[in-house]
Amino acid sequence: MKLTIRRRYSFGSGGVHELNTAAAWDEIRSRGDVFGLPETREGWLSEAASRDEFERRAEAVVCVARGLEARSVSSYGVGTAYLEQWLTVVAPDLELICTDFAPRAVARLGAHFPEARVVLHDLQAEAPLNADLHLLHRLDTEFSDEAWPPIFARFDRPVVVLASEFLRPRVVARELATRCRHPRATKAGWLRTEGALRGLWSASHDDQRIDADLPAYLLLPRREGVLVPSPDICSLPLADGRQKGRSRRAAQMTHRSLCWFA
Ligand SMILES: C[S@@+](CC[C@H](N)C(=O)[O-])C[C@H]1O[C@@H](n2cnc3c(N)ncnc32)[C@H](O)[C@@H]1O
Repeated sequence: MKLTIRRRYSFGSGGVHELNTAAAWDEIRSRGDVFGLPETREGWLSEAASRDEFERRAEAVVCVARGLEARSVSSYGVGTAYLEQWLTVVAPDLELICTDFAPRAVARLGAHFPEARVVLHDLQAEAPLNADLHLLHRLDTEFSDEAWPPIFARFDRPVVVLASEFLRPRVVARELATRCRHPRATKAGWLRTEGALRGLWSASHDDQRIDADLPAYLLLPRREGVLVPSPDICSLPLADGRQKGRSRRAAQMTHRSLCWFA
């Protein structure tokens, strides 16, 4: 079923009306709460280190990168970039580009994160950067059903999508409760069922599900001459680190068996 609804979020006092501009995101990143970007590198590293879920997600992304023999990863709308910080721990050899369109947050992150190239970049207005693998971590909420397809169509290299969550009955209930309890809650993007999410890229990409703690997909551009991995490329680590059905080594060997379909 394809269903998309607007998301509302109550940031409490000092929230913004709608999270749809760089200025609004800069406002959120300047807060001292969980959404803020810590003022010092030490604070930022310590926050990243305390978040195990980002380590596991980074391992899932690196597993795909290794399978595709990618040497560079470009991540969009990185925000606080805790996942990307973990990427540099799990795979320090990968060249990493981090982008976001919020200028003050990008400037602060650039100072914290010398291991990556941190770039001011508007994903809706600009073409993707040059990289072997692209990463969209919880960006699904940011654009409408009309805005996403032309953005995906510009990606001509593989993309890993880690979506924020699927729209399920319990999420609908949460959204209704937010609207009742906080009528002035911030408009914070969109939530989608699995069908609606996959519909965002179905005109330009084929997808494979990746095992991760979030809804996750590897997208491959659907055009002649693209690199198509063997079907089990995404037998990736489960959220608890176990390999699905076989050893990590065996999985990595399969990942190398890529083939070209002209
Ligand atoms: C929901 S947050 C996700 C942040 C981060 N990827 C994460 O999962 O923690 C969305 C991020 O996308 C950024 N963003 C929104 N619109 C954007 C655009 N047009 N171009 C680039 N970044 C954008 C925001 O500044 C924000 O940091």
